[in-house]
Amino acid sequence: MNWSPDKTQVKSWNEWDTLRHVIVGRADDCHIPPEEPALDAKVPEDSDMRGQWGRRPQETIDRANELLDNFADMLRKRGVRVDRPTPTDFSKPVTTPDCMPPRDVLLTVGHEILEATMSYRCRWFEYLCYRPLMQQYWEEDVNFRHEAAPKPRLTDEDYHADYLSEKIGIEKRLKWTAEKFFVTTEEEPLFDAADVLRFGKDLIVQHGFTTNLKGIEWLRRHFPDHRVRAVNFPGDPYPIHIDATFTPLRPGLILNNPNRRLPEEQREYFKKNDWEIVDAAQPAHNTPPPLCYSSTWLSMNVLVLDPKTVCVEASEIYQMEQMDKLGMEVVPVDLRDAYAFGGGLHCCTADVYRDGECEDYFPVQ
Ligand code: ALA
Repeated sequence: MNWSPDKTQVKSWNEWDTLRHVIVGRADDCHIPPEEPALDAKVPEDSDMRGQWGRRPQETIDRANELLDNFADMLRKRGVRVDRPTPTDFSKPVTTPDCMPPRDVLLTVGHEILEATMSYRCRWFEYLCYRPLMQQYWEEDVNFRHEAAPKPRLTDEDYHADYLSEKIGIEKRLKWTAEKFFVTTEEEPLFDAADVLRFGKDLIVQHGFTTNLKGIEWLRRHFPDHRVRAVNFPGDPYPIHIDATFTPLRPGLILNNPNRRLPEEQREYFKKNDWEIVDAAQPAHNTPPPLCYSSTWLSMNVLVLDPKTVCVEASEIYQMEQMDKLGMEVVPVDLRDAYAFGGGLHCCTADVYRDGECEDYFPVQ
C-alpha cells in the first residue's frame, strides 16, 4: 500500500529509504541522573558531568525545545508527518537523563516497533513517554506490532565493579574495550535500540557498554527472519550507541568514525557485498557543549531523508562538505544546543514509516 498522510502505517526496514513519518523527541523536564554503575562508566574522567545531577536548567530546556520544534517544523514543511512524545514526570520515583532521544528506546523493524530493555537504571521508565503514540499507532494500523523486550532487573550483578573504580585511565579503557570487556556483564539480556542499525534483512548491532551478547542473542531469536550481526569498535573508550560511529547513507555507502574503525576482519562482510566504508570528516568542534554526555562525533549523527538527502547539524561544516562530495543534498539543521539532552539528529528521532521493502543488501554470505 502507498503512503498517505491521513492513514497511520508503521513500516521501516532500513536507515535510508524515503522518510514519511517520524517521531521527534522533546526536552521537557529532562534531568541529569544521580550516579549509577553503567552511567558512571560512560562519563569521561575529566567531564563536567561528573558529580552533577538534578533537573537541567530551565533556559537550556527551553532552548533545546525551540531547536527540536524547529527541526520538527522543517520536516513537516518537507511533507514528513511528525509526532512528538508525551513528557513524563521524571523526578519521581526515578530520574532519567533524557526523554529526548527516541532512537535509544524504540527500534523499528518493518511493521514492528520494539521497546528496548535499556541498560541504565535511570532509563528504565523512558518507554512511558512513547506509550500514547504506540497505543495510537496500534489502534490506527492493524498491521502494527507493538513489542517490548523483557524488562531487566538491573541489579549490581549487571555491572562489572572494576569499571567503577576511580581514574581507570584512558589507556586501560581502550585496552578493555579492545578485549570486549565492557561495564555490563552477561547476567541478563541488555540492549539499547540505538546500538542497532537496520540494513533490510541484516541488523548490525554494536556490542559495548549498553548492549551485551545476551541482548544480541535475544534480538537474534526475536527476529528469526533477519541476520543479526555483532560488531565492535575498539577505538571507542565509551562504546555506547552505534550512531556516532557507523552511519549508513545509502545502499553501498557507510561513514565510519576514523577514531573508532571497524576491525579489518569485520569489514570483510561489507567489502564482499560491495559496501564502501569511508572515514567520516572531522567534527567542527573540539569539545561537546556543556553538560553533554556525548562526544564531538555527534557530527556524524545525521538523519537520512532519502538516499540523496541528509540532515546534518548546521555547525558541522566539515561533515556537510563531505556529504556534498559524496553526492548528498545537505539540509543543515541547527541542533547543537540540544545535544546535551541526549544527542544529535539521529538520536532525537525514531522512524515510523519509510518507503521500500525488506531487501537483502548482503547476498554474498
Ligand atoms: N557513542 C556516542 C558518542 O560518540 C554517544 O558520544
